[in-house]
Amino acid sequence: MASEDFAFMLDAKMGCYAWIGNGNRTPLHNPGFDFNDALIPYGALYGPPSSIPGPKPQSAQPHRRDRPSHNEENQQMRLAGKRALLIGAATGIGRACVEDFARNGAAVVVADINEPAAAEAAALARSHGATAHSVACDVRDEDSVRNTVDYAERELGGLDTLVFLAGLMRTGAIDEVEATTWDAIFSVNARGTFFAAKYGAPAIKRAGGGSFITTSSLAGLRGAPGMTAYAAAKGAVIAFTTALAQELAPANIRVNSVLPGWIDTPFNTPAIDYMGGVEPHGEVVRRIVPLGRQGTPAEVSPIYVFLASEEARYITAKSMMVDGGMAH
Ligand SMILES: NC(=O)c1ccc[n+]([C@@H]2O[C@H](COP(=O)([O-])OP(=O)(O)OC[C@H]3O[C@@H](n4cnc5c(N)ncnc54)[C@H](O)[C@@H]3O)[C@@H](O)[C@H]2O)c1
Repeated sequence: MASEDFAFMLDAKMGCYAWIGNGNRTPLHNPGFDFNDALIPYGALYGPPSSIPGPKPQSAQPHRRDRPSHNEENQQMRLAGKRALLIGAATGIGRACVEDFARNGAAVVVADINEPAAAEAAALARSHGATAHSVACDVRDEDSVRNTVDYAERELGGLDTLVFLAGLMRTGAIDEVEATTWDAIFSVNARGTFFAAKYGAPAIKRAGGGSFITTSSLAGLRGAPGMTAYAAAKGAVIAFTTALAQELAPANIRVNSVLPGWIDTPFNTPAIDYMGGVEPHGEVVRRIVPLGRQGTPAEVSPIYVFLASEEARYITAKSMMVDGGMAH
């Protein structure tokens, strides 16, 4: 599958989503592969073609060589013309998003408290031919977020996409969690998301609608030992996202949250330390993640591209898990 190849299949019958991506940007097949081939076994889930109501696929469908192949379709840029502000996107998953947005034709502003790293991420986006700027932003500070949104709207000539990725994790047993730690975690993850929406939503409205994407975590659904404050803050992000999606739908703004599982970035160092180090953490990952390993940032960024794209125009108020199957 080529790097941009992905398919998002909504299986209404089973009520589940299946996300197929190749974030590693490694060819998975020979270039002659047609993605439609992969759909045939999927259809077989429902029995042989004779059991599917309606005309037989062979006669009803044009032969697949008469249609553009999936590979050809994916040469198109999914975010051409989009103007995106990515907050907390200097490193890790955010940096992978910046690169993927740029590769897909979006103009971007990278905002982060880590200004040098944000500038590097913007340079990376420009290396893909994108318009890209960077700006310092501390999501704990309301004025800083308001100024960041103003800057992005001005530099990009409008804003139709806002991705919030800033995060902070600290771990500790409940009787050791200081109130200041609890507040710090909520201040970045939850309050920061609120500020981004408070100033981002009016900007996206002025552009005629668009997509607002928050970042929660599987921890926000299930929690984990030593992660009470972080889990609570990320749970708040999920609830906030669901409420905001209903509020902003009339303004043609879709609001969704991405819930990564174990993704290999230094962000998880506090959690790994709490679990006793790299070895015990690795053992847990092998045991609870069906795919048996951590994901990479580039395996998460395609879901953000999808949610920002027109292909997701009927998707809102959703929690999109990218977790190697951990939640099932
Ligand atoms: N890595 C994982 O396994 C994982 C799992 C679930 C959720 N997440 C979430 O994904 C997001 C990105 O995490 P990551 O793994 O890429 O880690 P990361 O540390 O690379 O990214 C976090 C970013 O947030 C920025 N940031 C922190 N405080 C900020 C502030 N006050 N103002 C502005 N920016 C600030 C950091 O500078 C950094 O660029 C976070 O929201 C995190 O909670 C990560």
